[in-house]
Amino acid sequence: MFVGDSLNRGQWISMLCLLESVIPQEKKSITPNAPLTIFRAEEYNATVEFQWAPLLVESNSDDPVNHRLDERIMRPDSVLRHASEWKHVDILIFNSYLWWRQGPVKLLWSKEENGVCEEAEGIEAMELAMDAWANWIESNIDPLKKKVFFVTMSPTHLWSREWEPGTEGNCYNEKTPIKDERYWGSGSDLPTMRMVDNVVNKLKSRVSVINITQMSEYRKDGHPSIYRKFWESRTEEQLANPMSYSDCIHWCLPGVPDVWNELLFHFL
Ligand SMILES: *[C@@H]1O[C@H](CO)[C@@H](O)[C@H](O)[C@H]1NC(C)=O
Ligand SMILES: *[C@@H]1O[C@H](CO)[C@@H](O)[C@H](O)[C@H]1NC(C)=O
Repeated sequence: MFVGDSLNRGQWISMLCLLESVIPQEKKSITPNAPLTIFRAEEYNATVEFQWAPLLVESNSDDPVNHRLDERIMRPDSVLRHASEWKHVDILIFNSYLWWRQGPVKLLWSKEENGVCEEAEGIEAMELAMDAWANWIESNIDPLKKKVFFVTMSPTHLWSREWEPGTEGNCYNEKTPIKDERYWGSGSDLPTMRMVDNVVNKLKSRVSVINITQMSEYRKDGHPSIYRKFWESRTEEQLANPMSYSDCIHWCLPGVPDVWNELLFHFL
């Protein structure tokens, strides 16, 4: 089961693409998009599932379709709603990152019914969620029976000045990878990376990190840009300037997430 945000969903879809071609049509099925979406491979008695949980802990963004809300509220100490689905799973693959970079989140502790007032920003909020997640892993995962992975941050390519100083574009129309081996974009926050490392280190025997960040940094050419499905129609103004609506966050498939899965296969 993959658990996390749309980047992790991308990795899940990549996994389905890698697996499904060897399964005959009548031996496989997939449920509609839901908080938990399930692919079944009948002959293998196996499922490959994706759970939408962009903040890992419970939040008002847990609806897989309607989650673009003005105000985000999370329960920093509770993973229970999501974790009830994790119990039966043999292999869990988590991610979380970009949702913590969109402004403050309101905190609703589980002992409170309502009355939200505290707020936390970015890494601080993410650390609260990671701690709740780590507590669950600590008390529920037997490393001899289950495997748990945490996938590091997926880089974005929103500002071409970072790889080509003096330009004002983004990933739009990029056709080749970045060649500088040391390239690291400003969107990949190192303090967040260290925080994740610290949390996961304490769970060493239970969780492995899949570190995809550096290898994906190079792939400014790997995003869908204007070639994705858009849910709303674009304005004349946008159409006149394709850069303005290019998606430089998610990845094309086949593409970069296939390599993340190859790494995962090595751990399995
Ligand atoms: C399929 O998996 C379920 C749940 O783990 C198990 O109860 C069942 O016996 C399995 N069936 C076969 C044919 O392996
Ligand atoms: C991932 O790799 C980068 C460099 O490739 C390193 O700086 C970072 O500490 C690693 N992060 C984790 C969580 O292992």
